[in-house]
Amino acid sequence: MSDSLVRAAHDVLIVGGGGAGLRAAIAIAETNPQLDVAVISKVYPMRSHTVSAEGGAAGVIAADDTLDEHIYDTISGSDWLGDQDAIEAFAHEAPRELLQLEHWGCPWSRQPDGHIAVRAFGGMKKMRTWFAADKTGFHMLHTLFQTSLKYNEVTRYDEVFVTRLLVDDGRVHGAVAVGLMTGKIQAVTGKAVILCTGGCGKVFPFTTNANINTGDGMSLAYRAGAPLKDMEFVQYHPTGLPFTGILITEATRAEGGWLLNKDGYRYLQDYDLGKPSPTPELRSMELGPRDRLSQAFVHEVEKGRTSDSPWGPVVHLDLRHLGEQVIDTRLPFVRELCLKYERIDPVHELIPVRPVVHYMMGGVHTDIDGATPVAGLYAAGETACVSINGANRLGSNSLPELLVFGARAGRAAAEYASAARAAPAVIEAQAADEVRRLERDVMGREPGTERISTIRDDMQATMEEAAGIYRTGPAMAKGADALAELQQRLLKAGVADTSRSFNTELTAALELANMLDIGECILRSGLEREESRGAHQRLDFPDRDDRRFLIHHLVHRNPDETPRVAPLPVTITRWPPGERIYGR
Ligand code: FUM
Repeated sequence: MSDSLVRAAHDVLIVGGGGAGLRAAIAIAETNPQLDVAVISKVYPMRSHTVSAEGGAAGVIAADDTLDEHIYDTISGSDWLGDQDAIEAFAHEAPRELLQLEHWGCPWSRQPDGHIAVRAFGGMKKMRTWFAADKTGFHMLHTLFQTSLKYNEVTRYDEVFVTRLLVDDGRVHGAVAVGLMTGKIQAVTGKAVILCTGGCGKVFPFTTNANINTGDGMSLAYRAGAPLKDMEFVQYHPTGLPFTGILITEATRAEGGWLLNKDGYRYLQDYDLGKPSPTPELRSMELGPRDRLSQAFVHEVEKGRTSDSPWGPVVHLDLRHLGEQVIDTRLPFVRELCLKYERIDPVHELIPVRPVVHYMMGGVHTDIDGATPVAGLYAAGETACVSINGANRLGSNSLPELLVFGARAGRAAAEYASAARAAPAVIEAQAADEVRRLERDVMGREPGTERISTIRDDMQATMEEAAGIYRTGPAMAKGADALAELQQRLLKAGVADTSRSFNTELTAALELANMLDIGECILRSGLEREESRGAHQRLDFPDRDDRRFLIHHLVHRNPDETPRVAPLPVTITRWPPGERIYGR
């Protein structure tokens, strides 16, 4: 084996150092302090994408709210595709997790009397979203990170990129990774592995996601034999900044912000989302679910009622009537982002916004404890599809999701690892294969006839065209053919930068290969779903079809590397399929 291979052994490897990964690490340390845990993260954990979550985290706490109402809102929001056993567990455990975070030091915003403050959020009929101004993810991630530092049994591998999972006979035994600072290849064995690498928004051109969100964990699992689930469901957030895609949180609308078309008209009142109300208590219209709001934007474009921008059509978010004091206390980050990235002060000016890709409802297929069909392999957070989000996630459910299911995956992985044996010898050969592949096919590439950045741009344009807010079969089929060509072009792409230290071109090549896998799964899953549900709206099949499609889609990877889509029943416990009703 190559001299450049560094070896390490742990009991549990966590890939990803964001909210889900850190919550899992703490759960393992608390479940069995004898276990040795490694957190391998592509970035320093405090730079994980959880840090950019803004609006809040849902969990029942108000006196007028009930767990059943949170469950029902989530099921209805999911267009009945969420698994109801998972949603029930989620709603029950979310308040406990949020309170636990409070005890670890998370500075939740308060009511004047000292009680936890909650705000309204899209598609939720009661106020149940806990928040820390509009920097909720920042404070949650800090809290989890500082708590994880208490545990000596947690070792961190920061700025280390995992390229392959080591799997033998249906069991995972670790991973091979490249140290981004040194270029050294490392084989890190573990009895259990938890994937917590976040989402894959960078498959699309306009997204709230950070550059690091390239679907790495999903692709690792898929190649290792774990299927991906519900990949056709890609969430557009209705209010991203037009060029950068930076999120302008839904909390702006929870605080009473309005969406206006080019005529200054609150156009959402035309879309079965309720009527204008003078108070922020309305919980309809601007606080409808994200899929419906993003679809309404497309109709406004078709009616010629949007404004032009260099980045395509936009509408405007109006916060001016909230006043400087509310903006500075409840939405300070929004003001900062608008000033820095758009040179606009929302206290006095309208904010141009457009729908941008925000969240992946699909992900690695897991059970309610984060277990995948590959023994010892778990996933949690946006990487996973448990599924509580079904066809459309409600805003503020993802932060509690990463806590609840990060903790569950951690506990389950700890139990598994406590009983599992060390990696078999055959794993050495697999690691050596991966070293050869990386050194020959990736690091040793000659400058080629194609550029990574051009192929990535083409992929993103293809995905927006084929799998945007509205889709058709022919467009998705054309997109899938285009991605197949891009896979071929990637083989001819060179890496001109030969350095080993922070070679971002090399990282981009590895990420692009992951994203092309994910894009293919999104389109293949979407083609099979001949109906419209939640975020998957097909112009050629405009209705929801429960008779044929009240099912999940699993995408398996065939031995010839092509995807195969198979159905899986949705778990219904107490809430039979019904109509999604907002604002009536
Ligand atoms: O708008 C937001 O603050 C986003 C929240 C979420 O996606 O949960």
